[in-house]
Amino acid sequence: MKYSVTSIVQHLVLLAISLAAAQAYAQDLEAIPKTAAKRGDSKEKIELGKSLYFDPRLSATGTVSCNSCHNLMEGGDDGRATSMGVDGLTGPRNAPTVWNSVFQASQFWDGRSATLEDQAKGPMVANVEMGMIGHDQVVSRIKDIPGYVVQFEATFGKTDSVTIENAVDAIAAFERTLITPNSALDRYLVGDKQAMNEAQIRGMELFESTGCTECHAGPALNGWQPGSDAEFVDFPRFEDSPYVEKYDFVADVGRSMATGDNGDDHYFKTPTLRNITLTAPYFHNGRVNSLTEAIRVMASTQLDVKFTDQELADLAAFMEALEGEFPNLTFPRLPSRSGESVIHASLNAGPSDQG
Ligand code: HEC
Ligand code: HEC
Repeated sequence: MKYSVTSIVQHLVLLAISLAAAQAYAQDLEAIPKTAAKRGDSKEKIELGKSLYFDPRLSATGTVSCNSCHNLMEGGDDGRATSMGVDGLTGPRNAPTVWNSVFQASQFWDGRSATLEDQAKGPMVANVEMGMIGHDQVVSRIKDIPGYVVQFEATFGKTDSVTIENAVDAIAAFERTLITPNSALDRYLVGDKQAMNEAQIRGMELFESTGCTECHAGPALNGWQPGSDAEFVDFPRFEDSPYVEKYDFVADVGRSMATGDNGDDHYFKTPTLRNITLTAPYFHNGRVNSLTEAIRVMASTQLDVKFTDQELADLAAFMEALEGEFPNLTFPRLPSRSGESVIHASLNAGPSDQG
């Protein structure tokens, strides 16, 4: 991989400082390495996590991997409005990108997982995603593949090393490497004034002056600050916006589904805008197909502002400046079991009517 976590952290710190300057809030530099760049992920653990991430055998039908919905060969999502898992079943929400997901204080649109480790447990047993009956089935599937047992033992020690906790520990270690530094904005902020063109610079200035940075600030432009707790914001904030009905933004109550508190109704986590050009369609329900329309929607629902066509074009140009450099990933070689499949039809959960 081309970039160490330390170098991205340095980069992101600089970006955070620049955006912070516009916002006048303090930046705790010390906190970044302790939170985002958790130390001690061994090469073996990251490689094991990569294998598990790409392995469709962790799903009931043997056809759906993490990468099916978070495709690392492109934007880290699936390009669908809402995701499709085993047996063609679809879920209610749009798949967020996994690129840079380490740079946020909680996972999922409603923040119901505090960590990447906890998050990774969900999809394996969600009936509309990977559809396994339970984590025990995931563990026994892994144990059925001798090469994995060897890899788990080399990573976590000989005693009882194939566990769900160790599997998600490895997946999260791999996810922490999925970072995309060195975007045109990053280069511009560290002094390369040629990195962004005039439209992008106008877009950046508009982004700050209109108040997008109220929510989309910090290293990942998602409000996250190193060491900070997760924050959720009201969406739509201006409920009279015509887009609320048009794109059905009130059907999903968001954060309150995670907390059970009605006061959290229609609160969502601010998503990262890094690589936003690559992850259409947009919003938690994937209802908006174009980035320009997404910007129009945000201006209306969050700031009660209407941009001119020129301003929209400038903001869209600025979004292009947020595309980062992707690491050169190599495919893992997945261990296989000689002469026999590990997918047994009788063990599949099959379609169920749960959530
Ligand atoms: C069937 C498609 C599908 C599969 C398979 C899947 N995911 Fe997801 N993933 C989603 C959707 C949809 C969401 C958002 C759900 C929500 O917020 O309620 C999500 C959310 C996430 C998030 C949170 C990102 C953020 O910004 O909040 C991470 C990280 C993630 N998935 C990683 C994984 C990993 C690791 C696996 C494999 C163990 C996996 N996903 C398998 C569809 C999928
Ligand atoms: C008050 C907070 C807030 C402000 C201000 C704000 N946003 Fe957002 N933004 C959000 C939240 C929250 C979401 C996710 C909404 C959802 O789908 O649930 C979002 C989503 C987006 C998305 C789609 C992201 C995706 O992955 O689907 C884009 C693009 C975006 N914002 C750009 C902007 C721009 C440009 C501005 C300024 C004109 C802006 N935002 C102002 C909070 C805000």
